[in-house]
This record gives sequence, C-alpha cells and structure tokens, in this order.
Amino acid sequence: MSEAPSTALVTGAARGIGLATTRLFLAEGRRVAMIDRDAEALEVAAAELGDAVLPVVCDVSRPDEVAAMGEKVRAGLGRVDALVNNAGVADFGPIAEHDFARWRRVMETNLDGVFLVSQEMLPDLRASRGAIVNIASISGLRASTLRVAYGTSKAAVIHLTKQQAAELGEHGIRANCVAPGPVDTKLALAVHSREIRAAYHDALPLNRYGSEREIAEAIVFLCSERASYVTGQVLAADGGFEATGIGLPALRG
Ligand SMILES: NC(=O)c1ccc[n+]([C@@H]2O[C@H](COP(=O)([O-])OP(=O)(O)OC[C@H]3O[C@@H](n4cnc5c(N)ncnc54)[C@H](O)[C@@H]3O)[C@@H](O)[C@H]2O)c1
Repeated sequence: MSEAPSTALVTGAARGIGLATTRLFLAEGRRVAMIDRDAEALEVAAAELGDAVLPVVCDVSRPDEVAAMGEKVRAGLGRVDALVNNAGVADFGPIAEHDFARWRRVMETNLDGVFLVSQEMLPDLRASRGAIVNIASISGLRASTLRVAYGTSKAAVIHLTKQQAAELGEHGIRANCVAPGPVDTKLALAVHSREIRAAYHDALPLNRYGSEREIAEAIVFLCSERASYVTGQVLAADGGFEATGIGLPALRG
C-alpha cells in the first residue's frame, strides 16, 4: 500500500455532484482543488468549506485556461492524488434541431474537457500513482431519444476512460468511470420535464432519483485505496436502470 492519499482535484465543483464529492473528500481528510467556470458560484461554495480547498476558476474546454489551472493547482496544492472529471453540460433535443454549435457546446465540455484536464494533470498523477474518475451517465450506456450530443459525449467518456486505463496502468494510474442515473441537480432540473421525471421513476428498480451524496460515495470509493485493483471499469450508480429492462408495462407483476 502506498502512503495515504491526501489531495483531489474536482471539476464542476461549484455545485451538484462535484460539490458533494468535494465535501466527501474533505470529510476523509483530503485537500481539494475545486475547479469551475462559474466564478461566482465557486466563490460562494468554497467560502463555506475553509482552508482545505483551493478554488480555481477555469473553463475545462479551453486549453489555455486548463494549462493555467494546472499551474495554480501545482503551486497551491502540491501533489494531486485523485482527479475527478465531473464538469458537464446537458442539452436535450431532436437530432434535426442540433446544429453544429449546439453539438460542439456539449462535446467541448463533456468530452474535450475530460481529455484536456487529464492530460494536464498527467505528470502529477504519474508522480502520485493516482486515480482518475470520469463522470459519464446512464445516457452513455443506453441510447435514448433527444440525447444525440449528450449521450454520445458520455459514451465517448466511457471509452476514453478505458483508453486511459489501458495506457496509464503501467504508471500505476487507475482510471474508472461513474455513470450516474438521474439526480436532482440544476443540470437535471433544466432538462427533465415532469413527464421525464415520471418515466424515470417507472424505469428505476429503486423507484426514485439518486442524491448527489450517493453519486459522490461511488466516486470517492473509486479514488480510494479500497479500489486499488479496480481500473477501466464503469460503475453505474443509477438505482438499477442500466441493469434491468423493466420498461414494458405488460411484464409487470
Ligand atoms: N444530475 C443528473 O441527473 C446527472 C445524471 C447523469 C450524469 N450526470 C453528470 O454528472 C456531472 C455533474 O452534473 P450535475 O448534475 O452535478 O450538474 P450541475 O449543473 O449541477 O453542476 C455542473 C457544474 O459544472 C460546471 N461546468 C459546466 N461546464 C463547465 C466547464 N466547461 N468548465 C468548468 N466548469 C463547468 C458548472 O458551472 C456547474 O457548477 C456532469 O458531468 C453530468 O453530465 C448528471
């Protein structure tokens, strides 16, 4: 076993799943670099969390900002033991209405951002023999309507994770993916209509949305030494959505 890990970098940390993950890391004694492009929300969130956090404003889709962020994190945090690529955007709509700009807006954060931040932090993760956890979605595991960009970006994140696991394992770096089911965050509230909410309840064996904390628990586990022999995996924290096909009403008991 290596020495106890002490730091983490979380993107999209100003709210939602990223903020819940930051809180859990802090609770287990890590210092956390909180990365977000929403400067105002990041300042408010970080102000409540004390000296163990390092807030850095950065748009993960922009190579220049990511490089500057990496420097700030190295200067302020030292080594990075865990990287959580969580920043994401959702946009649901029919294929015919996804013009190229709309497609790129989703891809540049959800896919380019994961690639860029992972590459920037690679020397640090090599030095610490650290862990990467990328946040995908059940929309990346099962295709569904209105998610041509979102679902495709998340499926790509799942494969990118496996590429990272394949290539970085020899450096002692593990790479895994968490695929959340529906969680009541600002992101979900923006794209889940009342009908979508009801349909999700119907399709989830646990019959409810997950909490931010429940997703964070899976992320923190995969970053920890308890998962020291786990790499290249996708853990769906999704109330059973991906594993089951209970969607046919005629097959209900
Ligand atoms: N909430 C859900 O139902 C759900 C389901 C499956 C997957 N996910 C995934 O979980 C992750 C977190 O989602 P959430 O629900 O907590 O969303 P959220 O909207 O509550 O939080 C996302 C955070 O990421 C930040 N962000 C977005 N784009 C950024 C960029 N380019 N650079 C830096 N920061 C950026 C936002 O400012 C925000 O603070 C996302 O990757 C999302 O796709 C969420």
